Amino acid sequence: MKTLATVLAACLLAAAALAADKEPVNAGPYVPSPSSVVADMLTLAEVGPKDFVIDLGSGDGRIVLTAAKVFGARGFGVDINEKLVKEANEAAKVQGIADRAKFTIQDLFKTDIRQATVLTMYLLPNTVNMLKDKLLSELNPGTRILSHDYPLSGWIPEQYRQFDLEDKIAITGVTTTLIYLYVVPAKAGGAWSAKLPPNLSREPVRMNLKQQITRVSGSARVGGREVLLEEARLRGERFSFKLALGGKTYDFTGSIKGGAIEGTVEGGGAKAAAWSAAVAK
Ligand SMILES: C[S@@+](CC[C@H](N)C(=O)[O-])C[C@H]1O[C@@H](n2cnc3c(N)ncnc32)[C@H](O)[C@@H]1O
Repeated sequence: MKTLATVLAACLLAAAALAADKEPVNAGPYVPSPSSVVADMLTLAEVGPKDFVIDLGSGDGRIVLTAAKVFGARGFGVDINEKLVKEANEAAKVQGIADRAKFTIQDLFKTDIRQATVLTMYLLPNTVNMLKDKLLSELNPGTRILSHDYPLSGWIPEQYRQFDLEDKIAITGVTTTLIYLYVVPAKAGGAWSAKLPPNLSREPVRMNLKQQITRVSGSARVGGREVLLEEARLRGERFSFKLALGGKTYDFTGSIKGGAIEGTVEGGGAKAAAWSAAVAK
């Protein structure tokens, strides 16, 4: 039988869960990214008319507004600050881009971000890291992530820029400014069964890959020998590596889509040939 104490504890837990559900986590105070940083972020990600940009914690909307107005993209921003959301929507109207730049009052942790081809954030460092699982599970491989000042720990940035900006003194107390560009990786880890050109192997080749976010390592079993993948690189869906076989080095490139890899292999003086792989059963 339940005691009063256990019933009370259950009620308190339920109340705390309800409160946690209602009160969004504050991911950072409102401090706008200087306009030059906004321009640098969008340029670094090569944002263009085909892009859909989502800014998590959009403040006065400047990132999505600039992406739409200057770079021709579409997108939306979310913020918990009602006044800022209103301001951003009004600016979109005034600039004639309200059909391509929209802002809503919403908790960024609960925002559906699957539509993004570019995702931007200027949030507290711990928040950026709280979002890592969400970014990996919701964003499509190839989506570019831009973070102003704070890195995603454990992720290897595709590029980053570091420079000094006087405007930042008022914001962070120092001039140092960082922009990190990441590309969401495809799922490469696990066992694959690969078909190589007959001059490399007549038998299916088993590849065992280990993936840590954007980093891939592993080996391929060719002719009864375990050969290490060299210089393995994963950028979104694009996967490349080298294999040393019979004293020659072969360059493999390919695209990972839905549990399959299709690509070409070059090297050893032979013409480029197709190779493929499927997730091993
Ligand atoms: C540092 S400002 C960045 C503004 C804008 N992205 C920029 O770079 O100019 C962070 C913004 O995140 C918003 N914010 C904080 N926690 C949030 C949450 N849980 N959901 C949505 N927005 C949030 C704040 O209101 C603030 O406007």
